[in-house]
Amino acid sequence: MALLATGALGADGERPTTIEEFMTVESPTRVIAHRGFSGRAPENTLLAIREAIAIGAEMVEIDVTMTADGHVILLHDETLDRTTSGTGPPTDHTLEEIRELDAGAWFSTVFAGEKIPTLSEALQTVKGRILINIEIKPEAVDHGVVPKIASLIAEHEMHNQVIVSSFSPEALLRMKIADPEVITATLFNKDLHTGRDPLEIVLEVGSRGFNISARRLTAAMIERCHKHGIPIAVYTVNEPDEMRRLIELGVDAVFTDHPGLMLEVRAEAENRGRAGALGLF
Ligand code: G3P
Ligand code: MG
Repeated sequence: MALLATGALGADGERPTTIEEFMTVESPTRVIAHRGFSGRAPENTLLAIREAIAIGAEMVEIDVTMTADGHVILLHDETLDRTTSGTGPPTDHTLEEIRELDAGAWFSTVFAGEKIPTLSEALQTVKGRILINIEIKPEAVDHGVVPKIASLIAEHEMHNQVIVSSFSPEALLRMKIADPEVITATLFNKDLHTGRDPLEIVLEVGSRGFNISARRLTAAMIERCHKHGIPIAVYTVNEPDEMRRLIELGVDAVFTDHPGLMLEVRAEAENRGRAGALGLF
């Protein structure tokens, strides 16, 4: 866990290659590209994933939901309206219809023509290149998304490169039933989890990690998780001062729309740590 910043990581080729390594090795605060490199390219597209790989992030996070005809696709919102040329819930549309939509022009005309990817395409894109966090959107759970995701992870033989998370404890429990080998992380849900012990929250769904928003994080939560070997990842961290604060607090990973910036801030913190250890200031 990132209790101490030791050694320089993050350059291509030095990324952790398994979830075990990502979660358990004592390491600098890990850099997770939130919805892909979403500061540079339209969120949850293959382009944003490729940009996350290129910049040297150590994991990419994506959000997944379902189409009407049972395909798992990348989308954050409950509807298509904000990030595509379509409207309404994705579960009202077939994959063929969703393939017609533009998922890039809303971000910039430069990205017009970018499509909503399937989870299968996303897994193919990251395999052997970067670890991936698949976040299951709660509204997709009753549409049968969980066993589909489990099948895709198995089909692509990526158990050691994927972590599945959700705000929905039901999604994580169903994943344990669908495939107990899939590693999961619990997203802190303010309505269900406020005032509760983070360790208990994680253990009740068999999770290995705890993900929480920077606004709700407390030092006590970090201490409690670390005492029991649970890594803690914090979202969505885009400001350098906030990045520095979280590195100092010893969080294990941050989700950021700007992974390049986070890599720079982390490298500076490591250099300061080394200079301090050598008595240079
Ligand atoms: O998984 C961390 C973060 O992505 C959770 O929030 O709304 O950006 O999916 P959201
Ligand atoms: Mg997400």
